[in-house]
Amino acid sequence: MNSLRIIGGRRLVGRVKAPGAKNSCLKLLALASMASDTCTLTNVPDITDVHSMCDLLESLGARITAKPGGAIQIDPTAITSAEPPEEIVRRMRASVQILGPLLARHGYVRMAFPGGCAIGSRPIDLHLKGLSAMGVRFSEEHGCITGRVAHRLTGAEIHLDFPSVGATENLMAAACLAKGVTTIRNAAREPEIVDQQNFLVRMGAQIRGAGTDTIRVTGVDGLSSTTYPVMPDRIQAGTFMLAAAATQGDVTVTDVVPEHVDALTAKLIEVGAAVIVSEDSVRVAMADRPNATTAKSMPYPGFPTDLQAPFVALLTTGKGTSIVTENVFNSRFRYVDELVRMGAQIGVDGRTAVIRGVPRLTGARLVAPDLRGGAALVIAALMADGESVVDGFEHVARGYDDLEGRLASLGASVQREDGPGAAVPD
Ligand code: EPZ
Repeated sequence: MNSLRIIGGRRLVGRVKAPGAKNSCLKLLALASMASDTCTLTNVPDITDVHSMCDLLESLGARITAKPGGAIQIDPTAITSAEPPEEIVRRMRASVQILGPLLARHGYVRMAFPGGCAIGSRPIDLHLKGLSAMGVRFSEEHGCITGRVAHRLTGAEIHLDFPSVGATENLMAAACLAKGVTTIRNAAREPEIVDQQNFLVRMGAQIRGAGTDTIRVTGVDGLSSTTYPVMPDRIQAGTFMLAAAATQGDVTVTDVVPEHVDALTAKLIEVGAAVIVSEDSVRVAMADRPNATTAKSMPYPGFPTDLQAPFVALLTTGKGTSIVTENVFNSRFRYVDELVRMGAQIGVDGRTAVIRGVPRLTGARLVAPDLRGGAALVIAALMADGESVVDGFEHVARGYDDLEGRLASLGASVQREDGPGAAVPD
């Protein structure tokens, strides 16, 4: 178990760079397995989930080389297996993103279901339905799924029941090497999907429409190697923006695409923060407790579910009662009990949290239930009176690159304490 010890009550002030995006990088790594030769990713975040995806690719036969300055080379030429080991698959939900690339490359895949998780049920029916429409026959037994393609994947008309990020990405990947045209309607519009389109197009794929609800892919015979920078992480950037507001600080987050954090920027202005947006940075300054507000998580460009918990942490000291609704996952309030232990007044009814603002939180020993819930506890601890310890910090390290170092550079009093730990699924 790893922990972060935090002495709260210090204003965060200064500049901090947003690292590369976890939720794009993991997929770009999987996509690199489809290339005919070595791809290089730059701006790769140093986080546990990226290490796990590299382990997964290596288990299939890929050669991964870490380069100085946050670059990774992926040589897929020696990939012979399409059966990632269960131990690695179950470490993280994003393992499922190898499904499309392996089916496109080998016409075969066998892997464990990524499993249940801490933020609600996360079925993969939309991935499987779309891939089936492209000619994959799936069978399931002993917790494993096997997919086979008779000849080659074929392009299809696919309408997603929900704009699932992961399903859109898997289908886009598979369609790149399918015969004919695939159209994905009601596609997710997240910026990470645009990043994948850009990467695949650099490899020779024919795709258009990412970022809209209709994506069209014309299959090609092969994908070549390329070098590509991972987009900035809008969720890590948003977490720093919230930490700045929560500590009544003044922080400029650099190396971001400000448009990607528009929904958060609007909410921060609503609660009383001053937000100055420039070409590739966002400055957040706050001089008082936040005003109360309402928020509903939605697929992009709505308010991101991944910032729901950190936003609730800010609202715990709001001037009045706020209401936050989680619309994407069905169990993403597990961190609330920990905030209550710090003096927050929050009631949860189903998908809605009612937050009655209190003047201040007090430090406590806390347990991070999952990645973003853990980030919320860190923000709460930064604003609380006295010392807090966030146990289960390994959840947070899955998705935040040197969070403790970045917070310390902004003036926070934080100290990481690492014990023997285990990887944990999100
Ligand atoms: C991605 O998960 C992200 N993970 C999540 O970030 C993020 O919260 C989520 O998108 C929404 O933005 C990665 O990119 C690795 P979905 P994903 O498929 O792709 C239901 C974080 O903290 N659904 O859009 O799994 C599903 O149950 C993580 O960084 C089905 O019903 O999200 C959920 O309720 C956590 N059937 C909703 O759709 C399916 O086949 C959204 O899931 C697929 C999804």
